[in-house]
Amino acid sequence: MYIGIMSGTSLDGIDMVAASFSDQSVTLHHQAEYPFPETLKEKLIALSQGAPVTLEEFGTIDHFLGKTYAETVNRFLAENDLKAHDITAIGCHGQTVFHKPTGPMPFTMQLGDANIIAALTGITTVADFRRKDMALGGQGAPLVPAFHQFLFGTDASTKVVLNIGGIANISVLTPNQSIVGYDTGPGNMLMDSWISEHKGKPYDKDGAWASIGTVNQALLNQMLSDGYFAQPAPKSTGRELFHRGWLEAQLNVFNKPVNPEDVQATLLAFTVQSIANDVLRFGQGELLVCGGGARNQALMAALKTALPNWQVMATDEKGVNGDSLEALAFAWLAHQALEGKPGNLPDVTGASRSCRLGAIYYPD
Ligand SMILES: Nc1ncnc2c1ncn2[C@@H]1O[C@H](COP(=O)(O)OP(=O)(O)O)[C@@H](O)[C@H]1O
Ligand SMILES: [Mg+2]
Repeated sequence: MYIGIMSGTSLDGIDMVAASFSDQSVTLHHQAEYPFPETLKEKLIALSQGAPVTLEEFGTIDHFLGKTYAETVNRFLAENDLKAHDITAIGCHGQTVFHKPTGPMPFTMQLGDANIIAALTGITTVADFRRKDMALGGQGAPLVPAFHQFLFGTDASTKVVLNIGGIANISVLTPNQSIVGYDTGPGNMLMDSWISEHKGKPYDKDGAWASIGTVNQALLNQMLSDGYFAQPAPKSTGRELFHRGWLEAQLNVFNKPVNPEDVQATLLAFTVQSIANDVLRFGQGELLVCGGGARNQALMAALKTALPNWQVMATDEKGVNGDSLEALAFAWLAHQALEGKPGNLPDVTGASRSCRLGAIYYPD
């Protein structure tokens, strides 16, 4: 059995799964979501938005997060009557605090010291999944498409797996063609940031606030003209681009008053339209949605409207829990690493070849 740990750009919590794998199938045994300690969350948000920190503070966060992951694993084991020796390895994505896959010195960083996880849990831990792919000229992202392919396969019809986390990414599974996968742009991140500023809520439950606003079409068009959307794949993005400052700059350039709820409605439409524009390039088929955004009813309804030729549904309808799919992917990537199998897809990331991903940390 493997444990997968994922905490994405939304910083809403730590997703954890215990799962086992065969050559053909996945069995999800347990899943849970745990909160971040509030002080840690604040530090991580500041760091990922580029706030200056000393090296000592940086190291403290790396340690604090590693310890938090380890304690969370131990709690997860206890809650599910598991022992360390039941687990072959942990695959821990870590928390991305920087991701810049382009330029002369590409660099991505996920924090959460895996030495601490291995030491405090007594379980072999695989972490730092992205940098090997980047060392081979890839984006280091997205890494989930290989798992999506393993999970949903390719049959007669086109399937697009859409994960709406802080950022949204797609994996396109087309019969007899190599898989395509990239970040389409913002997921929930801008909506989360706007509602937290105006309403003090972490997210817009079911898109209720956005639903009472009106989409400002001119502002939406302006946002959609951001250069990221015209870039060809492979491409990946994060908080470095679509953060609060980006929205601030958009509103400044727009320079006309827009009600807060109309901004929220426009941000929801922005997420939907940027995704739909990409999905439409792949004709028609099934759109399988996972990640927290799949719980946003207004967003799902808007996606269905924008994609009339697609069967839009949550992955749950295919028997795969959409909240734990990414954590499951990192459990699988740990399995791949230990089995000596590749984890990346060069067609997706742009790396020069497929390779084993992750560094292995031993508990002994
Ligand atoms: N019921 C809901 N209504 C609206 N949005 C939701 C709902 N449930 C979750 N979300 C959104 O999903 C986000 C978390 O998604 P998640 O897949 O965990 O992202 P990440 O991988 O970035 O952590 C939350 O921040 C929130 O924006
Ligand atoms: Mg999350």
